[in-house]
Amino acid sequence: MTYQEGAERFYDLFSAKDDAPFYLELAHRHGEKALELGVGTARLAIQLARSGVETWGIDNSPHMLRAAERNLAREPPEVRRLVRLVKADVRDFDLNERFGLVYFPSYSFDHLLTGEDQASALRCIRRHLAPGGVYAFDLAHIPKLKEDSGWFVQRKPLNRERTVVRLGFKRIYPEKRLMSVDLWYEVYEDGRMLERYHEGGEVYIHTPDSIRRLLEENGFEIEAWYGGHDRQPFNNTSEMMVIVARRSRNREID
Ligand SMILES: C[S@@+](CC[C@H](N)C(=O)[O-])C[C@H]1O[C@@H](n2cnc3c(N)ncnc32)[C@H](O)[C@@H]1O
Repeated sequence: MTYQEGAERFYDLFSAKDDAPFYLELAHRHGEKALELGVGTARLAIQLARSGVETWGIDNSPHMLRAAERNLAREPPEVRRLVRLVKADVRDFDLNERFGLVYFPSYSFDHLLTGEDQASALRCIRRHLAPGGVYAFDLAHIPKLKEDSGWFVQRKPLNRERTVVRLGFKRIYPEKRLMSVDLWYEVYEDGRMLERYHEGGEVYIHTPDSIRRLLEENGFEIEAWYGGHDRQPFNNTSEMMVIVARRSRNREID
């Protein structure tokens, strides 16, 4: 996915989620030092830091990191002190640190399109886990993959005068297990469009079997598998897979 400069201002408007309590609980249970992969606007990292968790965040998009820095600057010093933002790629990073929780929220692991990229990210994640630490992430669950495409429109107030309209187009390519996503953000005042931004790209569609195999091949064992951040059991009709994994004792990988 490419995140066009400017569009990051609207990201949080359209990404209201109920995932924070899930990651907060894991962070507190696993040593109060966490690493967020693809930290984006620091939506979650700031919430973890507010509850006392030292939180590092990496992202390879300079303007997402700038948005995160702007959001962090609005926080009190005791929160700012706990957040560390680093420009790095999840496929190849070395922070020389270990974390009780590494998490990759908002279906972002699916931004890694090839088996090679997915495996190298998992190897980096494994190296950054403290003893007993866990890797938690979520993915969309699309049980019956078929060729499909469609538009959607969402609208949010930006302030008293302006409205942001998000137009989206998605197309599924079942044979490649890919979905292309295009998003246009348009800012309106009195019915006139003032600004327009595009972001888009492709995401990989995992199945429960493919993700289980990928984790096992790269030195992880699954600790928990849910159908939502409220820890409801996963089943065939779940819209998402929420997975908690830990390092397995795989001597070949070590
Ligand atoms: C869907 S957003 C999620 C943002 C944030 N984690 C949240 O939950 O609100 C995905 C983020 O992952 C970042 N990203 C995508 N591919 C990446 C990569 N290979 N390395 C580092 N960051 C990446 C994007 O720049 C973007 O900020």
